[in-house]
Amino acid sequence: MRKIITIIIVTLLIPSAVLKAQDANRFFPEKDLVTTGIYYYPEHWSETQWERDIKKISDMGFEFVHLAEFAWFKMEPEEGQFDFTWLDKVVALCTKYHLKVLLCTPSATTPTWMRINYPETFVMDGHYIRGENGTRGLESIVNPKFRGYVKRIVTEMAKRYGQNSNVIGWQIDNEPGAVSDYSPSSQEAFRAWLKNKYKTIDALNNAWGAAFWSQWFNSFDQVIIPNTNLVGWWGNNPHALLDFKRYSADAQAGFLDFQADVLRDYISKAQFVTTNYTAICTGSDPSRTTKLDFAAYTAYPNGGSNNIGESGFRLGNSDVVLFASEYYKSVGGLSGVLEIQPGPVNWGSYNPLLLPGTVRLWLYHSFAAGGKIACSYRFRQILYGAEQYHAGVIQTDGVTPSQGGKDYMQFMKEVTELRKQYKPGMKTPAKLAARASAILWNVENYWSIDRQKQTGQWNTWDYPVKFLKTARSLGAPVDVIRETADLSKYKVAIVPAYEMIDSALVKKWNDYVTKGGHLVITCRTGTKDRRGHFWEGETAMPLSNLIGAHISQTDMLSSYGKGDILMNLNHYAWHSWADLIVPNNASDVLATYDNQFYKGKAAVVKHRVGKGTVTYIGVDTDDSKLEKDVLRQIYKDAGATTEDYPPGVFVYWRDGFYTALNYSSENYTVNLPDNAKVLIGEKILKPAGVLVWTE
Ligand code: GAL
Repeated sequence: MRKIITIIIVTLLIPSAVLKAQDANRFFPEKDLVTTGIYYYPEHWSETQWERDIKKISDMGFEFVHLAEFAWFKMEPEEGQFDFTWLDKVVALCTKYHLKVLLCTPSATTPTWMRINYPETFVMDGHYIRGENGTRGLESIVNPKFRGYVKRIVTEMAKRYGQNSNVIGWQIDNEPGAVSDYSPSSQEAFRAWLKNKYKTIDALNNAWGAAFWSQWFNSFDQVIIPNTNLVGWWGNNPHALLDFKRYSADAQAGFLDFQADVLRDYISKAQFVTTNYTAICTGSDPSRTTKLDFAAYTAYPNGGSNNIGESGFRLGNSDVVLFASEYYKSVGGLSGVLEIQPGPVNWGSYNPLLLPGTVRLWLYHSFAAGGKIACSYRFRQILYGAEQYHAGVIQTDGVTPSQGGKDYMQFMKEVTELRKQYKPGMKTPAKLAARASAILWNVENYWSIDRQKQTGQWNTWDYPVKFLKTARSLGAPVDVIRETADLSKYKVAIVPAYEMIDSALVKKWNDYVTKGGHLVITCRTGTKDRRGHFWEGETAMPLSNLIGAHISQTDMLSSYGKGDILMNLNHYAWHSWADLIVPNNASDVLATYDNQFYKGKAAVVKHRVGKGTVTYIGVDTDDSKLEKDVLRQIYKDAGATTEDYPPGVFVYWRDGFYTALNYSSENYTVNLPDNAKVLIGEKILKPAGVLVWTE
């Protein structure tokens, strides 16, 4: 019996391989460039206003309406009793006003009957307290009963709307985030996942280093989810916690794929299946899903953080769209934004007015990075509830566009103009192709490093993103890719803090360089195997041949410490992380430490391998200037020219259109070539300014 239960649970976690994702490009004709939409929640408004609202959405220029997210209570008001009449009316109104529909499965919020009848379908937190309905994402997605109810509601929706030619696609769930779930269903599922992975309990004991502090298990039945809430930080077992993260991400991906399978039994091939991951998502792992046609993201760049310069707090954090727009392309090859903040939110540390034009800036950012969808949460600002202070594109009177709404209308009008200028088959300009770059990303490295940062100065998410920013500031197009991706199309590949490696990956990197690639490896790369163990040897031992050097020790300074580095007569400051590098004869020293007791030791080395180069940057500098200078030289070695955009200024190219964006607080004059034809904006980019041109 136990064996059968294990098999059922493992099947819940591991998606079947029958129905596959489709080629996502076919859903988005290139000549449309981007399709625009808005989230509308008819269940929040009087039926007498639905037609007025839908007409307004159409009049403003939107092309699709996003419906039914969080509306389970309305579609299945009593267990097993379904009511879609209200949704039928709204879908029909959309058709009447020439709007397409994007439907959302409602699994992120459950109706009250679920809590009353099946309390066991909710997660438990680290103190074993049960979640309830009334907010998003507290369902235990591995609970077989919950899965059953999800299957039923999704089936009903798919049967009803799966062949409706006005429905363009489906979003599954909301911001799937891989919540840590300590409930009995999750404990059972975790054990099943471990059994599937390790087969024997001794293999698990070895992988987890369970001999440390008497954690040894005699059988899988003895294993529980590692819980730092109860044993404290010191009780953490990094390998067990890493596996819990992996299991949680697998469970999340399995839940999405499970819903995709349910949908695909009924829906037309013309409808796509996607989800809306949060832009900066460190819990779930999009690379673990196999059934989505593509992955979209949600972007809230302004939660009251200080950004660049005096107006930065109104412009938001440029890293958000910068990262997400590339990262999510790794599923299905394209992406787009499903929620863009339409104005002040309700959850920031403070929620300022945005500088007029800021929402348009973010929309253009997503567009410029290749986005195929530009959609916003939400149409009308709600009059009640937890998000009543959250802006909509329409204000509380139900009819007046907010500043974000105006920004949106301008963007949509301009997109219509750009579509007229679109020419098919444009090839990436040679100067950009010569700088083609990639950053390797595996969220498992984030999980592992963030658990054991070793210094409060280390920012686990910012560190790889600083290379994305730096390469972009040099004018390079940069993809965020998985380690399994083909590297051959990239002139420069950057591997920032890629902690866990194996020999196959090192060989792949070596092959890339031998054939002429330029590889940049940074500190905290290759220090552990895939279990998270150190090598029985020096730090990053499997990399030493490739980088032509050894890492003898690592230093870090106090927050006020001043580390000094010398490169080409320039000095650079660091205080977070410093590998002391001992080069082999074959490698060049590019930079050395210029103070502390190890003054003179190498901080950056370069090694020629075959037709390419490997540069190892052992130090994390305070302002990234050293990293920028090193990268600039690498592009030069690769035969590419570079630009020098200031922080917050980005220039992209897509489908023949160049777009410049300004997140900084200063004007920036774009250096346009003589043959440039300006389509939108002016060459003096004001803060929140956008310039679009062709060459
Ligand atoms: C998002 C979420 C939306 C809404 C929004 C508010 O994270 O997906 O449903 O709650 O935040 O900013």
